[in-house]
Amino acid sequence: MHPLIDKLERERTLSRAEWISLLDARTAELARDLFRRARALRRKYYGDAVFLRGLIEFTNCCKNDCYYCGIRRSNRAAVRYRLTEEQILSCCREGYALGYRTFVLQGGEDPAWTPERLAALVSSIKGEFPDCALTLSVGEQPRAVYQLWFDAGADRYLLRHETADAAHYRALHPPEMSLEARKRCLWDLKAIGYQVGSGFMVGSPGQTSVQLAEDLLFLRRLEPQMVGIGPFIPQKDTPFGAQPAGSLELTLFLLGLIRLMLPSVLLPATTALGTIHPRGRELGILAGANVCMPNLSPQEVRGQYALYDNKICTGEEAAQNRRSLERRLASIGCYAADGRGDYRPL
Ligand code: 5AD
Repeated sequence: MHPLIDKLERERTLSRAEWISLLDARTAELARDLFRRARALRRKYYGDAVFLRGLIEFTNCCKNDCYYCGIRRSNRAAVRYRLTEEQILSCCREGYALGYRTFVLQGGEDPAWTPERLAALVSSIKGEFPDCALTLSVGEQPRAVYQLWFDAGADRYLLRHETADAAHYRALHPPEMSLEARKRCLWDLKAIGYQVGSGFMVGSPGQTSVQLAEDLLFLRRLEPQMVGIGPFIPQKDTPFGAQPAGSLELTLFLLGLIRLMLPSVLLPATTALGTIHPRGRELGILAGANVCMPNLSPQEVRGQYALYDNKICTGEEAAQNRRSLERRLASIGCYAADGRGDYRPL
């Protein structure tokens, strides 16, 4: 029990100083209390349903050079690939047959995928699968491009802010990128009408509770429908290759805090969480998460979407292993929900 957890549950918000002091007060006992409340809230809005998204990592070519990311343009060791429209559509067909009703197209900022080309793909997918939600996750774009894709039928957009502290943002990204530009994209996406997901890495180099407090304050202001967080994990061919990974315990604690702050948010138990611990995603759900994003990319390119080392991609997180995923969810009292799994407003 901690008075700030009570206050957070009551008021759905804390001051900067309060966030910092709550993060610094974290103990295993406090975490247990937080997770119990987070699960109760998740149940209140979504029952025991966990929503599945079929993730299609359709290009690992990227014009950006983020210091933490394995597919940054300076990484000569990365083996690059780009799926064709036909390959992407066949991933969707396979996913549809497996029961997926949300497809997430995620990729680097790849100039070969012009706005018009991606818009055409969006309309083909929505034309063939009108009962599915389509989520895009392809980085920063001008507002007119986001509008073009929305008009073509895209429903949701994922763009993590990565860190809401401007100095920390500069330490993680090359000079041509800025937190201001990133935030502008997120507000544009909201204004257009997308269901928006943002989020951040936990334990990125140099991060302390001071930066995490900024992340929580920013999410409070943005009120995204989805929040993706996961531990930072080093990728050996990047400038941060020798840095320590973020911790499981802190990531879980943040999931719980986010559930209390944004009670009906869609909160994935991410692949990165499943990578740092064999039961990471189950523990994430027990801390308040309610979304899983199994991998639907073609087997032969899965290993190449290497944002960080040892990324899981061939085991139970594969979309094809739906039965074993269902068993894992049942083991923690949850089930894989049918349907698109849209956001439920408070
Ligand atoms: N460790 C953990 N997450 C990472 N991402 C990129 N690189 C890493 C890494 N080394 C995350 C970023 C990005 C998402 C697609 O993957 O937060 O938004």
